[in-house]
Amino acid sequence: MRGRVVLGVGGGIAAFRAVELARALVHASCQVYPILTWAASQLVTPRTFAVLTGHKAQVSLWSDPESPGIDHTQLSQRADLLVVCPATANLLAKMASGVADDALTTYALAHRRAVVLAPAMNTFMWEKPAIQQALHILKGRGAVVVEPVFGRLADGEVGVGKLAPVETICAACLDQLPRTGPLADLRLLVTAGPTREALDEVRVLTNRSSGRMGVALALAAQALGAEVRLLVGPGVTVPEGLASFPFFSAEELGKLLTIHAPWAQVVLHAAAVADFRPRQVARGKLDRRQGPMTVELEPVPDLTQTIRAAVPKPYVVIFAAEQGSQLAQRAQRKLAEKGADAVVANPIDEPGVGMEAPLNRAELWTVGGRQASFPPMPKEELAREILLTLAGEWLHRP
Ligand SMILES: Cc1cc2nc3c(=O)[nH]c(=O)nc-3n(C[C@H](O)[C@H](O)[C@H](O)COP(=O)(O)O)c2cc1C
Repeated sequence: MRGRVVLGVGGGIAAFRAVELARALVHASCQVYPILTWAASQLVTPRTFAVLTGHKAQVSLWSDPESPGIDHTQLSQRADLLVVCPATANLLAKMASGVADDALTTYALAHRRAVVLAPAMNTFMWEKPAIQQALHILKGRGAVVVEPVFGRLADGEVGVGKLAPVETICAACLDQLPRTGPLADLRLLVTAGPTREALDEVRVLTNRSSGRMGVALALAAQALGAEVRLLVGPGVTVPEGLASFPFFSAEELGKLLTIHAPWAQVVLHAAAVADFRPRQVARGKLDRRQGPMTVELEPVPDLTQTIRAAVPKPYVVIFAAEQGSQLAQRAQRKLAEKGADAVVANPIDEPGVGMEAPLNRAELWTVGGRQASFPPMPKEELAREILLTLAGEWLHRP
């Protein structure tokens, strides 16, 4: 279990997005306790939240006359986080001044730990000094505000006030939860998926990587308590709750690595990066009538060097897809040549495992002398095994 989250839902039109947030938090292994304002219950039904979260969705302080307990104070003893989504203008003003006149605001006053607020409202409401001052007060008390974004609002106007993307709100929530597990608080960067190198303005050279192994590593690391960022290639579905940054080409991935590698203590470089790209990108669309053609390819700079150049230098794990017969020899040579700290190699020529397949088999070597062989297993399980095998080296680094 990742943490206990009280999800407060305000009476804004974006209340339906709180349903997605509830689901995302549950997927991220949180226990979610919904509390809706009366206005929210006019827009979305409490039952939806109850079904998705497995917990009663509270709307009134007084709905259960037989209840022997004081729900809001009891819940506040156990909850790690209160997230309010959408945080209406009314809720922000009430929370800033300590009003407690319904189930949600009463709970908010009793709540003891982290608070995330995701406001959404009409631009004019958002810009009113009363609301900006309320936000200022709440931020001053430690609340994390996931700012609304620019866009078309429910009333047809265009401006700032649209609820931030649910993934952003979910990531902000997970960031606030205490981390437990063998990788607690380790900052881990994962790269996943294929690259696409442009041939002309519509065509690309790419590979068959599904990104599944990288996503599995990111999820497993998060479940083991690590703080995770995922750099993800095209066509890879990212589960909700993972902080992810998209790239298309190797060059774009290189730029992301210069930004994120200095943040990381460990980099798991599982993306299938092109070795070559067209030297020139043709303008428009190459025409079949031009007849047979030769495309000149140039090598892509080795991104392991970009990662190694980060200061402070992270522990670097590279992933190598190799032909089974030469797997051990080539993987160990790569480890030495690239200056990585560990290599995980998997075969590309064995049926049912590797690229695109749900199963994978792998061998691992580290510069520190560790060696492990993992038989074919689901990529999710393999990811956990790899992380637990390497955890010892990461946690004892100076
Ligand atoms: C259809 C509808 C949509 C609304 N959308 C918003 C909104 O997006 N943001 C907001 O702050 N208020 C919105 N309001 C106004 C709130 O519902 C109203 O201020 C209410 O008192 C808020 O109650 P609560 O903060 O207890 O949920 C909306 C009202 C209606 C009728």
